[in-house]
Amino acid sequence: MNTLLSVDQVLRGCRAATMTAGADGAAYGLIDDAAIAIKGDKIAWVGRSTHLPEDCQAAPSRDLNGRLVTPALIDCHSHIVFAGNRAAEFELRLKGANYEEIARAGGGILSTVKATRAANEDDLLAAALPRVDALIAEGVTTLEVKSGYGLDQETELRMLRAARRLADVRPISIRTSFLGAHAIPPDFSDRADDYIDNICLPAIDAAVAEGLADAVDGFCESFAFSPVQIERVFKRAVMLGLPVKLHAEQLSHLGGAALAARYSALSADHLEYLNEAGVAAMAEAGTVAVLLPGAYYTLRETQRPPVAHCRTYRVPMALASDCNPGSSPLTSLLLTMNMGCTLFRLTPEEALAGVTRHAARALGLTDRGMIMSGLRADLAIWDVEHPAELSYRIGFNTLHQRLFGGVS
Ligand code: NIG
Ligand code: FE
Repeated sequence: MNTLLSVDQVLRGCRAATMTAGADGAAYGLIDDAAIAIKGDKIAWVGRSTHLPEDCQAAPSRDLNGRLVTPALIDCHSHIVFAGNRAAEFELRLKGANYEEIARAGGGILSTVKATRAANEDDLLAAALPRVDALIAEGVTTLEVKSGYGLDQETELRMLRAARRLADVRPISIRTSFLGAHAIPPDFSDRADDYIDNICLPAIDAAVAEGLADAVDGFCESFAFSPVQIERVFKRAVMLGLPVKLHAEQLSHLGGAALAARYSALSADHLEYLNEAGVAAMAEAGTVAVLLPGAYYTLRETQRPPVAHCRTYRVPMALASDCNPGSSPLTSLLLTMNMGCTLFRLTPEEALAGVTRHAARALGLTDRGMIMSGLRADLAIWDVEHPAELSYRIGFNTLHQRLFGGVS
């Protein structure tokens, strides 16, 4: 109880959706007439106002007039650092071309690679900032950012440096994933193995040497990398002590999710074509299913990810923006939650867990994602009465205030 001796601030008169998965089982971990005591950048105490410990009573307190408080939002899958845009590709798709055809014809990811290679680090940072600001305005305090639009060592590292710098210029935590195995660059077409050997693996070593990567990701798809090629990337990650993640079963089933599970991946992402055996493998490994309804919507997919199997096997489902210039030009986690419910039939409670508790887990972070004593005081205060309203509205931001490590 010593930690309670001097808290710095207390939020009172709120409804707290703690998102704890306690045995008492209140939906959303909801506490009515709650108080939250904060010391430094951590939550010191949460519970009913009437139970607020005496030694917290003297701290400056703020009455939230019944507002809802949730853990701040976490976007656990983004490609938010890139140059240019792909509106022309959007027009092509409206005329009938599909994502895979565009990619195979050298458009898609490769057109962003061209623009990103031509941009310097300051350009990349400046281009990403308005997108990051849009997420922050909706209560995001933790954001994962992938490389993958360089496909050469220099540009991959430049992307990661720009990503890291986001945290210097904005109040946000950034986690970076090295995604060199995202697409096969034109200079290596039909030589994916050479690309892995000569570019991707050395670039992972360089990213780790510079402390630029928190995880290693890949794109396992027929027009990207095979499971055998991805496994070589994973082996290097494991050798260097980095956790892995994977874009898997997005457009076809290649067994990427089961491969990721064999490497105890933090997450497997997309998963529209995942089968029951893959879900079972993920459950066994504790791998989070990251669902990306923005890409599903943009590509007008019709095959939905296996949500029912994930529930049955208790695979935690996270939701993320997948913010990227091609398949998901989306910078709203609130809209992502709405799409998760409307398109994938998640419950609003699952959607909120998907951008808080489960998103933290998809990044291997155990110090955030719930309102619980000892965790970071990353909180979102909303002008709503009930947490279901966060998923229910379309294109309306009800954020009242965001606290990042206790600071507004
Ligand atoms: O997560 N699936 C592969 N990568 C991205 C798409 C990137 C792009 O089209 O630029 C995704 O959807
Ligand atoms: Fe992605």
